[in-house]
Amino acid sequence: MGDVRGRRVILAANWKMNQVTAEAIGFISDFLPRVQGREDREVVICPSFPYLRAVKEALEGSWVKLGAQNLHWAEKGAFTGEVSPLMLKDAGCQHVIVGHSERRQHFAETDEMVNQKLKAAVAHDLLPILCVGETLAERETGRTEEVVLRQMNGTPKSSPPAAVTKLVIAYEPVWAIGTGRSAQPADAQMVAAWLRRTVGELFGVPVAERVRIQYGGSVTAMNIGSFMREADIDGALVGGASLSPETFAAIVNF
Ligand code: 13P
Repeated sequence: MGDVRGRRVILAANWKMNQVTAEAIGFISDFLPRVQGREDREVVICPSFPYLRAVKEALEGSWVKLGAQNLHWAEKGAFTGEVSPLMLKDAGCQHVIVGHSERRQHFAETDEMVNQKLKAAVAHDLLPILCVGETLAERETGRTEEVVLRQMNGTPKSSPPAAVTKLVIAYEPVWAIGTGRSAQPADAQMVAAWLRRTVGELFGVPVAERVRIQYGGSVTAMNIGSFMREADIDGALVGGASLSPETFAAIVNF
């Protein structure tokens, strides 16, 4: 498994709406040699849709995986501007980010939509990275658990345990995203432990023990180590710091 937790560490780069072809390709050729020998960790690069194919080609022969940042739940049809799980598989994706707070905030994604996307990802054998996290106001009014539970929207309950085992949950407090103000590792650990307990209550401890939980929000090469020391944090979903091959490689090699 490559880790004392018995769960494989997973570090994912969410490039968001950044990196055109030359930057994306340049990133991969610079990044790969820097993470040589770190196959014990699962590393996923999530570029924008138009660059999936180019990044896939650049990753050819390497152990680093390709992921997408979003998907539609239908396989095909009249959904102008959307991308289906079939298309993501066809483009070489193995992972997909689902329910990122920026999608919820700017594109009106509801818990219901996130739930449908999650089911579609599982049905197409795409490993979903489900994002949950509270706003500052929600945290300050003690509603973190309630909000996170609602965002999961009973998802685990409606999925077979085998699928839940493969789920990656990214705990990303909204106030920590892109702000340079990360959560305190101990606070992130508290939420991660609670998430794992919740999955355990729904599916039993063996499933909960296998679900991987990432922290996301202003992760840097400097602070990754302190998050990874926490017992229930199995990796990170990285935005800004994943745009530099040197920095993201330092995060992978924490
Ligand atoms: P930053 O790492 O830029 O804070 O973004 C986090 C994030 O939203 C990853 O999905």
